[in-house]
Amino acid sequence: MRVLGIETSCDETGVAIYDTDAGLLADALYSQIALHAEFGGVVPELASRDHTRKLLPLVDQVLGEAGLTKHDLDGIAYTAGPGLVGALMVGACTAHGMARALHIPVLGVHHMEGHLLAPMLEENPPPFPFVALLVSGGHTQLVDVRGLGDYRLLGESVDDAAGEAFDKVAKMLELPYPGGPQVAALAEQGRSERFRFPRPMTDRPGLDFSFSGLKTHTLTALHKLREQDALDAQARADVARAFEDAVVDTLVIKCRRALKESGRQRLVVAGGVSANRRLREALDTALVKMGAQAFYPRGRFCTDNGAMIAYAGAQRLAAGQRSQTLQPRPRWPLA
Ligand code: KG4
Ligand code: ZN
Repeated sequence: MRVLGIETSCDETGVAIYDTDAGLLADALYSQIALHAEFGGVVPELASRDHTRKLLPLVDQVLGEAGLTKHDLDGIAYTAGPGLVGALMVGACTAHGMARALHIPVLGVHHMEGHLLAPMLEENPPPFPFVALLVSGGHTQLVDVRGLGDYRLLGESVDDAAGEAFDKVAKMLELPYPGGPQVAALAEQGRSERFRFPRPMTDRPGLDFSFSGLKTHTLTALHKLREQDALDAQARADVARAFEDAVVDTLVIKCRRALKESGRQRLVVAGGVSANRRLREALDTALVKMGAQAFYPRGRFCTDNGAMIAYAGAQRLAAGQRSQTLQPRPRWPLA
């Protein structure tokens, strides 16, 4: 089955074609980062408008790259939620319109399911069951994944998502949007020994997260340095490093705990923050010690993309699932 996947939940227009026999045939991404950068974050109205401009040209592009026409498609999958309602609507309307014209099935896919299945597009995909750490701009969740669509929420952030904390700390450091990669790059020049920030909610049982206090701690540290007239380039890098260390440590502690408690031996790490190099290194080291293994998407598929939606949609469409109604779900729990 050849499935066109459409992702428009936030600020990336992603389109891809996945073939259940031949694998990924083509994928294309248009990022709106430049459009939103001057506002320091995503402006929903501008995002929707830009998706309408870019989506159909990207569909033509992937069809061309795959050497196909629209008549070669057997189904269409789109991100139905969670995300920005106007942005989701663009993908939903396009997918349903195309599917109706082509007389092929269409299915709305959960954005976070797309993320958690993204490592399935790699050479060495993880077999079920596994624990998934989903770390994006909107979510921080640990999920026990027993099979396709069989998800149990183990823990999640009670306030900010990990990516959101990265983005907010980037703003404090006057780094451009989106801040995660910028903070990570600055942290490379920082020293671990100078500051030690708290590892929230790690000293008590449970698998929930909280990053809001860590954000405030970072702000206070920056204030103090500024007051002492000591906020030079090295101090900024040291703060970025202390923040990153704290997030990474916290995520590693909770992942280890989730694996132990669930008895799973495989961990999937997905969503934008899974691109973080230090997080990957720390997880790999920790998991080797406990005889477990981590699986990640390639860099390009850590953040939002059409390939993960094409893949997730193809699995579900091939199992006979369909969407009858065109209803975006801006808030939609995964489990
Ligand atoms: O999955 P994603 O593209 O979008 C959502 O579904 O939210 O994740 C975007 C998030 C942003 O908060 C961004 O700052 C963060 O992922 N991010 C990173 C890195 N690359 C992206 N955070 C830390 N280190 C990175 N290298
Ligand atoms: Zn995402």
